Amino acid sequence: MIKAVPEQRNTLPMQALPGFRDFLPDQCAVRNYVFSRWREVARRYGFVEWEGPPLEATELYKKKSGVEIVEQLFNFKDKGEREVALRPELTPTLARVVAAHEREFKKPLKWFSIGQFFRYEKQQRGRLREHFQLNCDIIGETDLAADIELVALCIDILRGFGFTEKDFVVRISDRKFWTDFFRAKNVPAERWDDLLQAIDKSARETREKTAERLGHLADPVFAMLESGCKSAKLEQLVDGLRARGLADFVAIDVGIVRGLAYYTGIVFEVFDRAGKFRAIAGGGRYDNLISQLSDGTLSLPALGFAMGDVVLGELINEIPRAREAMQKALANDSKIDIYVVIAKEQRRADALAQIQQLRDRGYRIDYPLTPTKVARQFQAAEDLGARVALLYGDEWPQVKIKNMGTGEQELVSHENLAADVDARLR
Ligand code: HAM
Repeated sequence: MIKAVPEQRNTLPMQALPGFRDFLPDQCAVRNYVFSRWREVARRYGFVEWEGPPLEATELYKKKSGVEIVEQLFNFKDKGEREVALRPELTPTLARVVAAHEREFKKPLKWFSIGQFFRYEKQQRGRLREHFQLNCDIIGETDLAADIELVALCIDILRGFGFTEKDFVVRISDRKFWTDFFRAKNVPAERWDDLLQAIDKSARETREKTAERLGHLADPVFAMLESGCKSAKLEQLVDGLRARGLADFVAIDVGIVRGLAYYTGIVFEVFDRAGKFRAIAGGGRYDNLISQLSDGTLSLPALGFAMGDVVLGELINEIPRAREAMQKALANDSKIDIYVVIAKEQRRADALAQIQQLRDRGYRIDYPLTPTKVARQFQAAEDLGARVALLYGDEWPQVKIKNMGTGEQELVSHENLAADVDARLR
């Protein structure tokens, strides 16, 4: 029997790679909304924007980020035989850039950055293989005032999306609780990273698994996690936030240790109150990283946090107040100002000349690229949210202006059109 030969098909996959997203216009609008809120609030706090490269030497992450992130690297050898990796996070780049340019800037630096990051993670809710982060870091300040300012910024960014203390909580801890504890138990320093990782994962893993990782320290660690810890420093931090009316947004939680290896002191993570999602943001102090990456040539204290777009997006959709605020902003942003209706094709050239002038004045304008029925053009004007429609037809050299909200129409000489539009729309 002759088998049918399957038709040759285009085998190029039409889907994005697992864990990667296509941003269609609606999703791009959401992304831009998130970026604009991030940028606006970071600037309110006097942070300035900077950016690093998306590709770095793999070594940069091997040196100090910790085992977990190195396992998740998208790394390869480039054509010049260099070991390189797509950045999984920004902090090592920041430390590298600061070490190279430190003399050019007065301290403390308050820098923020918005960019895309790549981690070869097991895909799960809230975790993809690419995501965007806002990073906010303060370099060159040891005083607790900087930690308070940073946590306040993180809270205010989330408030900027319409969230309240009922929606999210910043869980704050101090790694010193654990390092002091390890020291008291005579645990060799080489073991600390593994143990901190186990504690970091304890909320997401079974007790048995955590106990196995912790070995003989399991019982005292569980006891510490259950009874909690306090310190004068953390209380001072909460007092600082209370003075700003932000204390209800935070909770002290010794179970927060952070997965990355370089943190040295206060650490924090932000979660939704309902406990439905993964962490929205996380950060802390990393006072030794710059010194470690620069092999001791420069030592500067540092602290910062990053907020990802994925969980944040889920939470915006979950909380009606935040969702409505976003929808309102998106609706306003997607609207055009003017739709030009070309009722008579002989007027197309005149219309285009005026479209050019009005666009130069900053108006968002659309019009039909090819001959189109007038009714369809008005429908387009409505669909695009135009505030006015300009009609080019038999009335020329006058142009009919239609207020799309009230339906009122008026004739204006085309010579006075720009001034008339300014009076209506500005
Ligand atoms: P991180 O906790 O690894 O910290 O990431 C910060 C945030 O980025 C997370 O809370 C989460 O919202 C988001 N995120 C991380 N991985 C993924 C993923 N695979 N998919 C979606 N979202 C993700 C850092 O990256 C530190 N470098 C933050 C920092 C800045 N520390 C000091 N300065």
